Amino acid sequence: MDTITVTLIVGSARRERFADALVPWLSRAVARHERVRLEVVDVTSAGLDGRDMRPGGTPTRAAATLREADAFVVLTPEYNHSFPGALKDAIDLHFGEWRRKPVGFVSYGARTGGAQAVEQLRQVFAELGAATVREAVLLMHPWNHLGDDGFEPPADVDAAADAMMAELHWWATALRAARVRDQVPA
Ligand SMILES: Cc1cc2nc3c(=O)[nH]c(=O)nc-3n(C[C@H](O)[C@H](O)[C@H](O)COP(=O)(O)O)c2cc1C
Repeated sequence: MDTITVTLIVGSARRERFADALVPWLSRAVARHERVRLEVVDVTSAGLDGRDMRPGGTPTRAAATLREADAFVVLTPEYNHSFPGALKDAIDLHFGEWRRKPVGFVSYGARTGGAQAVEQLRQVFAELGAATVREAVLLMHPWNHLGDDGFEPPADVDAAADAMMAELHWWATALRAARVRDQVPA
């Protein structure tokens, strides 16, 4: 199996965000997969202030990291049955960085675990020519699973993360080989 670079996108920009309780757990879940190098891009520090929303516009601080990624894991909360505006900005400020690469999702919220945020993100990434993977991790009421070591989910959550990572690795390897073989059009 080839080593791939997976970039974790932290999608909440709230000051006291639950995302911070999930990032250490999710980083471990990504990194325990064989042959994965982990990078993190946080929407609060990605240098998204350029507001030059067009392909080839002023590069953000995150652009180089996103360009180098073979795959993405997007961590998103659900706000009013959608995903955060800050995450949409982070997506829209880039273009070719997403193209022909796989995207996996970890969402969180109340009863539906952020499922509606994920389904909307699938539409956005389709427009950018990214390939979203079927296996996703939906965390329902994750704040009920905080222990001494932070987020301590039931075993089936870790199993879901492993399934998502296995699928992401397959797509990342396949698409990277295809991008090398046939140049991705601008
Ligand atoms: C403006 C707002 C809207 C929300 N709407 C939903 C929702 O539609 N569905 C849901 O399951 N949770 C909803 N929630 C609860 C969030 O999922 C929960 O507060 C979560 O911790 C937010 O993530 P964050 O703290 O990392 O930003 C909402 C929270 C906020 C602040």
